[in-house]
Amino acid sequence: MEISLKGKRVLVTGANSGIGASVAAGLAAAGARVGVNYVVHPEAADAVVARIRQAGGEAVALEADVAEAGQVAAMFAALDRAFGGIDVLVNNAGVDGPRAPAWEADPAAWERVLRIDLVGAFLCAREALRRMVAQRAGVVLNLTSVHEKIAWSGYSAYTAAKAGLSMLTKTLAQEAAPFGVRVLALAPGAIKTDINRAVWSDPASLADLLTKIPLGRMGEADEIARVATFLVSDAASYLTGSTVYADGAMTDYPDFAHGG
Ligand code: BGC
Repeated sequence: MEISLKGKRVLVTGANSGIGASVAAGLAAAGARVGVNYVVHPEAADAVVARIRQAGGEAVALEADVAEAGQVAAMFAALDRAFGGIDVLVNNAGVDGPRAPAWEADPAAWERVLRIDLVGAFLCAREALRRMVAQRAGVVLNLTSVHEKIAWSGYSAYTAAKAGLSMLTKTLAQEAAPFGVRVLALAPGAIKTDINRAVWSDPASLADLLTKIPLGRMGEADEIARVATFLVSDAASYLTGSTVYADGAMTDYPDFAHGG
């Protein structure tokens, strides 16, 4: 089976680092024209664009804070000008927020996580779906997490946002299905990126994390990019409304312990 995204107009949010950068490069390698969204570190977005162009692909950097409706609308207008519309949205932008039990959490910081991870995904999906429903084709892929399902002490905003994004996915899928538009979630497990560098760069915390992953290792961002490429392609034409877990079996075996 060959997967081609030739000519597909794609927007990946938070595409200047981590999973987003790999997904942007992966989709471009499959032939897509990619909008590389960023809000901080423009030089990192430029590097992703340069890497895609060097490989013979097409990409453009697009600045916007996904939590701000006005900036999201302006980004989609810029995408319309660059590519003439959108066929695939990957809602990847996200933060996990400061670690704190709820009773010590700062309400403003808590709400900011919800604004980026959940409201931001909604605002981008809203703009994308307006265009996709009108053209009766398109795919929205929401990056959730194993924490859409597994609790995570210290990160109540993140888990609440990801669980919310999971149900947002299902409802948008139901709304958009009659128009031939698919909406899906992809839930990565522990993937080696900057968001969790503090965990994997410390041998003791890494060892503890690995006891929770039956496959016995963290995932690589490229492994998520390959699943994303399949999910947004026509090869996945009968998948909508569901979450696909790419987590080394972390979700279904929460009490797993290697050698235990
Ligand atoms: C978090 C990572 C964490 C992983 C598994 C992800 O959603 O962003 O920091 O390692 O879940 O707990």
